[in-house]
Amino acid sequence: MKTHITKKWVIEERWDWSKLVTFIPNKNLPVHSWFYFKEGFSRDFVYSMINLLKLKTNCRVLDPFVGSGTTLLTCKEVGIPSVGIDAAPLAVFVSQVKTADYDIQKLKDTAREVFEKKFEKPNLSQVSKFTKKFFSKPSLEDIIFFREEIRKIEDPVIRNFFTLALMNSAMKVSYAYKDGAVLKVVKKHVPPFRRFFKRVVKKMIRDLKKIDLKPCTVEVYLGDARKMHFLEDESFNAVITSPPYLNKIEYTKVYAIEYELFFGDVKVDPVRSYIGLNPKNIIDQFPELNLPEAAKAYFYDMKLVLEEIYRVLKKKGKAVIVVAGGVFPDRIVESDILLADLAERVGFRVDRIIAVNKRVATVKRVIKIGEARESIIILSKT
Ligand SMILES: C[S@@+](CC[C@H](N)C(=O)[O-])C[C@H]1O[C@@H](n2cnc3c(N)ncnc32)[C@H](O)[C@@H]1O
Repeated sequence: MKTHITKKWVIEERWDWSKLVTFIPNKNLPVHSWFYFKEGFSRDFVYSMINLLKLKTNCRVLDPFVGSGTTLLTCKEVGIPSVGIDAAPLAVFVSQVKTADYDIQKLKDTAREVFEKKFEKPNLSQVSKFTKKFFSKPSLEDIIFFREEIRKIEDPVIRNFFTLALMNSAMKVSYAYKDGAVLKVVKKHVPPFRRFFKRVVKKMIRDLKKIDLKPCTVEVYLGDARKMHFLEDESFNAVITSPPYLNKIEYTKVYAIEYELFFGDVKVDPVRSYIGLNPKNIIDQFPELNLPEAAKAYFYDMKLVLEEIYRVLKKKGKAVIVVAGGVFPDRIVESDILLADLAERVGFRVDRIIAVNKRVATVKRVIKIGEARESIIILSKT
């Protein structure tokens, strides 16, 4: 194993783990693949961390940035109770659907009922002009028709299952292309919606037969990792998580279509609820570094998160945090080192920093300003 020594820290290098911290390995896994989440990490990563930390079924795991629920679903595969929190209602919804307990026969019966319904042209006047441009008219009519039928399902667990299937199918037949933080219209040939949606539902039901989930509790909450007041002190054995990356924050804008069509009544205020987006009223954690404003806000928020993680962990509890360096026009900010420093100030012992990816950062595409590392930080509450 290679190591790299900075002034204070030894950074291990495990470039062979680079894929593990991406969502890619989840793409072919039952249930894990129910929602493609570019910012997610993999089931295999969570498995490796569960093994590394020797977590058992009598432990309790927290993911304060739950995203698409990879930590929780993996814990459920192993039989470890878990709790997830996210500031985005879409993430909470996806994580809940992926980790719910299902009666497969009930799902099949509901599927039959839903697909037996005779199509009636819905009224599209409630759909915004913005959303309309991402769909052909027949696709959008089908989507709204099924949405209204699914809304009539009484059992919330079953209703949510079908809503996720519909949302995924809708996005697959849309002309939406998520280009970083921007949604673009890219016209393409799309399959007839009803047949496509039916296939997605069938596949999701098949997935539930393939995956081996244990009967353990999973709780998912809409909340803020900086203020987890509703979680008791010293109530978790481990945290396995990845916060939004510095200067690469996912904006809710790329999910504007999903929010409008399926979460019409929820309002999110990304500036107030997301890490590092509000530069007001912050305390600069590293005045000696003269960091860019965005980085100051990020590390201030992350200090609050680390304090909360420290509070809710039991003594000897462990925290695994995946982070990446921030690329700015004039420099790379080494998030792993700065977060390790903050963690120590909060009271943690920094056990390991493991670099798993590095990306050459350039300005104007040619001038190299350095390498941004993606790393796993492992902390202990001593
Ligand atoms: C990198 S993603 C986590 C991905 C996750 N590990 C997975 O595998 O799907 C970061 C998540 O943090 C959420 N987030 C951002 N600010 C937050 C906050 N203040 N509190 C809780 N969650 C937040 C985002 O909505 C996003 O889902």
